[in-house]
Amino acid sequence: MTDLVLSDVTRRYGSVNAIDHINITVGAGEFLTLLGPSGCGKSTTLAAIAGLDQPTGGRISFGDRTLFDGGSRVSLPPEARGFGVVFQSYALWPHMTVERNVDLSLRLRKVDASERDRRVGEALELVGLTAYAKRYPGELSGGQQQRVALARAVVFRPALLLLDEPLSNLDAQLRGEARIWLKNIQRELGLTAIYVTHDQEEALSMSDRIVVMRGGHVIQMGTPQEIYERPIHPFSASFIGSANLISGGLIAAVSADGATVGLPGGQTLQGHAPLPVRQGEAALVAVRPQNIRLTEDADANRLLVRFGPANYLGDRFEQEAFLGESPLRLQAARPVPEGEGSIWIARQDVLIFPPDEGAKDKT
Ligand SMILES: Nc1ncnc2c1ncn2[C@@H]1O[C@H](COP(=O)(O)OP(=O)(O)OP(=O)(O)O)[C@@H](O)[C@H]1O
Ligand SMILES: [Mg+2]
Repeated sequence: MTDLVLSDVTRRYGSVNAIDHINITVGAGEFLTLLGPSGCGKSTTLAAIAGLDQPTGGRISFGDRTLFDGGSRVSLPPEARGFGVVFQSYALWPHMTVERNVDLSLRLRKVDASERDRRVGEALELVGLTAYAKRYPGELSGGQQQRVALARAVVFRPALLLLDEPLSNLDAQLRGEARIWLKNIQRELGLTAIYVTHDQEEALSMSDRIVVMRGGHVIQMGTPQEIYERPIHPFSASFIGSANLISGGLIAAVSADGATVGLPGGQTLQGHAPLPVRQGEAALVAVRPQNIRLTEDADANRLLVRFGPANYLGDRFEQEAFLGESPLRLQAARPVPEGEGSIWIARQDVLIFPPDEGAKDKT
């Protein structure tokens, strides 16, 4: 089936590459999310796919159609690509009713009047706004306007739906509901969707696959579980779910499936190394707070630490354990007395990486 393929897509602004040789493939019916911090190039990537912005180089194809080719200077205009687009700002026409706003998508595509009526009715039903057809956008809540924007983007059954932070104007509760609702619509209609967000929970709960981006680069691409459970880069580990990053260690030994790190202060930790590491080189260790244990475990690395004060979070306590000067966040059912003590971390929960060279250039 049709695949969207981005090959080496680059967008340069002056001397800065907003996106830098991006390679992404999206399968038919897939829900793919671009996830990363502000300024990492998510909207630039989406605009390049929609045809709203021209990359400086690379190639974008959809099935057997070339949408953009920097080499042969092909660039189809947005209307020739025909994708449905929803932005953070709803961009509804204030002087048109809800049904007229949705109908406009079909008029522009010269669909017959009777067919238009039927499809607008269907789309409004899909987003639960049949009763609001005759209202104006100014008479709707933010969440309802968002749903009109979505109805407008799906009414012409686009081959690809592009969504740029469409839920960010909603409050937390509405956002949670809208997430489930939007995902159901995408599944029901079998739409291929590319979704942009900087919210990790949204990305984890909605996506078939996530593309983790930083500084115009793709850091990791995979299913939500792969990204969360097997991050291949310290940035994936710390941006998705939270992770303690311990720097200043040196690789003491390398084995077939991992490595041992000598930490500052003389203690050692064994762990898994997703990227190649070499003995004697600097190491960056990542450990998730929920993987730090307070009782001894057979297969575990023990570390002597100094516990700081605990904070009550309702369902658990959060506490810091100091390894020398480095604080490690941990979660506990009951607080540990402040002062000297021990923590244990299972070998498979310790991720050992080379130092993160791109960390300074975070955006
Ligand atoms: N028109 C422009 N001129 C110059 N630089 C730009 C322009 N548009 C974007 N950039 C730069 O390109 C980089 C990527 O921007 P982009 O809008 O894609 O980020 P983003 O990931 O969507 O961020 P956010 O989460 O804040 O929306 C940023 O550093 C931004 O400053
Ligand atoms: Mg953006």
